[in-house]
Amino acid sequence: MNTHVVILAAGKGTRMKSARPKVLHRVAGQPLIAHVLATAAVLNPTTTTVVIGHQSETLAVALSGYRGLTYVVQEPQLGTGHALLTSEAALAGQTGTLILLSGDVPLLTAATLKMLADHHRTTGASATVVTAIVDAPHGYGRIVRSGEQIARIVEEKDATPGEKQIREINSGIYAFALEGLFDAVRRIGADNAQKEYYLPDLVAIYRERGSIVETVTVSNPDEIRGINSRLELAAVSRIVRDQKTAELMAAGVTIEDPATAYVDAGVTIGADTILHPGVSIEGSTTIGGSCEIHSGARIVDSRIGDRVTILNHCVITNSVIADDASVGPFAHLRAEADVRARAKIGNFVELKKTVLGAGSKANHLAYLGDATVGANVNIGAGTITCNYDGVKKNQTVIEDGAFVGSDSQLIAPVTIGAGAYVGSGSTIRKDVPAGALAVSAGQQRTIENWVGDRVKKREKK
Ligand code: UD1
Ligand code: CA
Repeated sequence: MNTHVVILAAGKGTRMKSARPKVLHRVAGQPLIAHVLATAAVLNPTTTTVVIGHQSETLAVALSGYRGLTYVVQEPQLGTGHALLTSEAALAGQTGTLILLSGDVPLLTAATLKMLADHHRTTGASATVVTAIVDAPHGYGRIVRSGEQIARIVEEKDATPGEKQIREINSGIYAFALEGLFDAVRRIGADNAQKEYYLPDLVAIYRERGSIVETVTVSNPDEIRGINSRLELAAVSRIVRDQKTAELMAAGVTIEDPATAYVDAGVTIGADTILHPGVSIEGSTTIGGSCEIHSGARIVDSRIGDRVTILNHCVITNSVIADDASVGPFAHLRAEADVRARAKIGNFVELKKTVLGAGSKANHLAYLGDATVGANVNIGAGTITCNYDGVKKNQTVIEDGAFVGSDSQLIAPVTIGAGAYVGSGSTIRKDVPAGALAVSAGQQRTIENWVGDRVKKREKK
């Protein structure tokens, strides 16, 4: 039996008050719709169709990384029933089950989706609705039952005071038999408070003609929380973060203050690593075991080895840091910084597209860009690789064991040979051979008694 997925994402998301399509707002570093697409993939669907409308181009660009998606444009957006109808042509000739998902319900689990598909098939239902029992049903469609059976769904805005008391809600997630589905959807009217074609009205249409409509109820209602406002976005983000920090702690990570540790869903961290309060660890970052990450660190899409110390207020993006290295405080590693084992980076040091070899040190105030630094090199305070000549970026090579004195400028392209010394305050324009000393600073002039003489001159005036 084939499974087809349709994801509704055409709505404007008025309540978000945003220029950005609602389903592109992020939870745990991923757009809402990316969460939905990831979950839908477990059904191994024959087709996946996304209904887009409001800012359809922005959305299509944002989703261009996903293969095998079909887009249908719903313009204007006349409600969820109308939205499903726009997918009819894309599904022409298809048979089996249609799973309908909402782009703004990101926490739905794979287990629930499988339960929905299984229940729908074994009961032979025309429609199966995922429901939940919640304490605060406000805003959701309510499940009206007659006896055990679902009779219809009533939207908040159309509900009587009695119906508003119902705590069983519609998740907006359904399974439908494709057979006859679109003919039934065409019978949905717009005679309601919002003058929209409500997909949930299909329940009453099917029940009146005696078709089987089933429900499956999730045990954790958080799963089906829909996001309509920034407040709900923050609440759902909180749930995801709490899940993530709980998982990490169960796996042996110390998180001193889970309320202020922001760890994205895709991050992995090894046992005995300690996260101090107020860290932000994002994207596909991996951190090894026994590391210590201090407050204010932001680490994005980076790979960090074992026993690494990241001191306060470092920004680390797209970089690699090997075992036993130490970084910060106040360091900036970006765009392919590659810090090898036991290397040490101190305060106010910036690395860009640079390898800092094993055991090497750049302890204070340095810029290393487009550089390859060997092992056991000392980079003095205030060293700058002048990598940009106004037209293009040039490489600096500093070989093993070299010593670069403080306040030196290395004008790339340039090579400092193995074990060579660069005297403090030098501007190096030519290669320095291995073992040599290069000094460019001028002779020092000392004028004896200069201060006293100046005072005397002033007194004479
Ligand atoms: C909908 C359900 C409600 C359910 C709730 C669960 C309807 C009428 N109501 O309400 O019973 O409790 O979800 O979260 O379906 N969309 C379109 N085209 C449109 C309108 C909406 O693609 O013309 C998309 C939206 O982008 C969104 C989804 O459908 O992803 C749900 O729409 P939304 O307006 O958020 O519906 P709710 O009012 O939340
Ligand atoms: Ca919604």
